[in-house]
Amino acid sequence: MAEISQSESDSTLFTLEQTRSDLMEVDASIRACLNWDYGERDNRIWSLYQKNKKSQWDAETYIDWDYDVRFGAPLDDAYSAGVATFVVGTESPVPKELLNEFRWQYQAWMVSQFLHGEQGALVATARLVETVPDMESKIYAASQVADEARHVEAYAKYIDEKLGESYPINPGLKALLRDLLAESNWDIVYLGMQVVVEGLALAATRLAGSGFGDPIITSITKMIARDEARHVGFGSVALAGLYDGMTSKELDEREKFLLEAIHLMSRRFLLREVWERMDLDVEKGVRFAQTDPMMFGYRQLLFQQVIHLLRQLGLLTPKLRDLFLTENLARPEAFRNLG
Ligand SMILES: [Fe+2]
Ligand SMILES: [Fe+2]
Repeated sequence: MAEISQSESDSTLFTLEQTRSDLMEVDASIRACLNWDYGERDNRIWSLYQKNKKSQWDAETYIDWDYDVRFGAPLDDAYSAGVATFVVGTESPVPKELLNEFRWQYQAWMVSQFLHGEQGALVATARLVETVPDMESKIYAASQVADEARHVEAYAKYIDEKLGESYPINPGLKALLRDLLAESNWDIVYLGMQVVVEGLALAATRLAGSGFGDPIITSITKMIARDEARHVGFGSVALAGLYDGMTSKELDEREKFLLEAIHLMSRRFLLREVWERMDLDVEKGVRFAQTDPMMFGYRQLLFQQVIHLLRQLGLLTPKLRDLFLTENLARPEAFRNLG
């Protein structure tokens, strides 16, 4: 056998990400799985799949794209931009005269993070098609891939053609996508994507749908929230009962992943990138996002769904509960029956 020269072995380490800032690459060792048992086709996952097929909507034609979105124009109070209305008061890093700009920047940041999260969902769910053992889950995940492609299309079109302002992926979301795409256990990809990322996306799209600054993004977000509700339902049905039979070592691995995932996601809502872009006092902004009662009330609303799903799956361990409490992502009442 010919020896591999130094330059050849170096080239195997070369990644496109090293030269292209628009790419992120993740190496993974996965086990693709085919299944010759095509199932009963009468269970909940098949019926969720049927709903997915019938609920496809086309952003090109379904959304009315005529409205003229003018980035930075004074916002109508009818569109209160959700969390942006919280950024008032003496501790706020945003002076009154910049409140309107903040609302627009916040909207651009939020929609950009939705878009990056949708791409993460697209790629992670495609992974599930290959790796999940059951046929009904493969079929469902494939239909979800098509949903996520439409979500990417809708948000990208809105940013490019209407908003004209965008943000790079938040470092916490990027780190979580890296972690879960490197993961070889299919159920951990589920936990990261279908429970944590999708659970947060569902809550955020529901809250944002009524608070964004124009009718186009409001209707896109409303349509996407409907699809996400089915995706979250799929995660909880597909994983139901799976953890009852796992060893403590396997459960520890899941807990470790979830602790990291939730920690990363909680950092996401400190709006650091927005404070930076607006040239405001970044430390003051982060402190405000961490401590303002309205801001952490908003984060608690977002994490409710994740806590609910983890409880259903039997994964809401004392360590996770402590993390939710120390990072101010939940109130103690959320764990009343947990012991
Ligand atoms: Fe989506
Ligand atoms: Fe989704």
